[in-house]
Amino acid sequence: MKINGTPYRSVWVNEKDGWSIHIFDQTRLPFSLDILRLTTQQEVAHAISTMQVRGAPLIGAVAAYGLALALRQDASDAAMEQNAAMLAATRPTAVNLRWAIERMLNSLRPVAPENRVAAAYAEAGRICDEDAAQNEAIGRHGLELIREIAKNRPAGTQINLLTHCNAGWIATVDWGTALAPIYMAHDEGLNVHVWVDETRPRNQGAALTAWELGSHGVPHTVIADNAGGHLMQHGQVDLVIVGTDRVTRTGDVANKIGTYLKALAAQDNKVPFWVALPSTTIDWSVANGVTEIPIEERTASEITHVAGRGEDGKQTRVQITPDGSPAANPAFDVTPARLVTGLITERGVCPATEDGLRSLFPEQ
Ligand code: MRU
Repeated sequence: MKINGTPYRSVWVNEKDGWSIHIFDQTRLPFSLDILRLTTQQEVAHAISTMQVRGAPLIGAVAAYGLALALRQDASDAAMEQNAAMLAATRPTAVNLRWAIERMLNSLRPVAPENRVAAAYAEAGRICDEDAAQNEAIGRHGLELIREIAKNRPAGTQINLLTHCNAGWIATVDWGTALAPIYMAHDEGLNVHVWVDETRPRNQGAALTAWELGSHGVPHTVIADNAGGHLMQHGQVDLVIVGTDRVTRTGDVANKIGTYLKALAAQDNKVPFWVALPSTTIDWSVANGVTEIPIEERTASEITHVAGRGEDGKQTRVQITPDGSPAANPAFDVTPARLVTGLITERGVCPATEDGLRSLFPEQ
């Protein structure tokens, strides 16, 4: 995707700069577009756990490069296995992270240690290219759903979409998952407008989704997380579309905390609720999302404090709770498959069921 006319991916290697890894510091957006240069596996692990880099597909891709950086220090079998485990443990819910590390290990184990660094950069590069291509395909399949709504309306009628968290290009290597169809619809002239849930506590919607959509010229409105049900009751949402961090083989969907409540409201108001995902987000080993998907519990300070830009123009944090009030911060929830209208994958759309997923991925 482009920033001020220049095409970017969300992660890239600078071969002329010691093969360092570059990402945008997402904790600085939308007020400042800072590029972070990562040169060690420790820096990569820190960037993932502090959410300087985030979004299920992107943390997998960046962790893959983290393993390449680790191999530059020590390419032995023991160090590789230990560093892979350390990277995989940086965040627990998004299965893409584990998937990317396992794929790296499977391709690197048969390679002699002296050839592992080059092989690791090459494999991480393939993971990135495939993610970008998968998301573009998701965009094309999801676009059909938006076209279908447009077809049944007078030409030019506004189509109102609602999304939660950030599943845009900055959460993936390129394009995004939930936002890819929206970009394509906008680019082909459909009159789309997006309700952007602010997505407390870290405000990925307000900070990142709004920034992405605004940079691309997509009309959007940021709303409080609690506003979606009201808008649905008043016919102001035509389609909900979200990303996900892990989908079970039965179609349960883990995504940013608050997604489940949107799905409940959508069902009550007969608003279609779609989930966009690359196949790297499917956990074929899990059948029951509510009981089996590990939910990340993040620091209480993300609830007690809010980050933003002060009136002096500087980025700052302010406390919003009384001193001493305890806070809890589950970062994800699970939307049961029965509330999901369908899944949008790189191979097409399917019902959120085991049969549906297996019809698209029979090799599983
Ligand atoms: O905690 P985050 O910001 O990494 O959570 C991200 C989400 O919940 C996204 O919706 C999900 O990773 C899909 S990104 C294409």
